[in-house]
Amino acid sequence: MEIKPLVEAAWAAREQAYAPYSGFQVGAAVVAADGRIFAGGNIENLSYGLTLCAERVAVAMAVAAGVRQIVAVAVVADTRVPISPCGACRQVLAEFGVTRVLLANRSQQLEFGLDELLPRATAGILDRAE
Ligand code: THU
Repeated sequence: MEIKPLVEAAWAAREQAYAPYSGFQVGAAVVAADGRIFAGGNIENLSYGLTLCAERVAVAMAVAAGVRQIVAVAVVADTRVPISPCGACRQVLAEFGVTRVLLANRSQQLEFGLDELLPRATAGILDRAE
């Protein structure tokens, strides 16, 4: 899997982020198992709790297009250290099988396994004893 186009898609999506309340724009892009890339920026709301993180917007774009298996996600923002997805987004990423998580700012790129960021996300839920 090529990382560069995924990170570039995340930066492009960040341009469309709707973040008038925090002023903090985030971009995310996911690559599906079939190689298609989907991206999105965060979408805030006057009712703050309704805010959608960029990661979940990108996942929703992919799932709405029929994707059910996502390989990797890239998340970008203009921060001093690369941004890291919130707990809720980690759980949503786990739902679609994400393994690789790329985090970038303007000068640095980090990579984590989703299992490092959210250990035991599905353990025991789908294989319970009857
Ligand atoms: N945000 C994201 O979109 N992704 C993250 O990983 C962390 C935070 C957004 C939510 C909100 O619009 C703004 O950043 C400030 O928290």
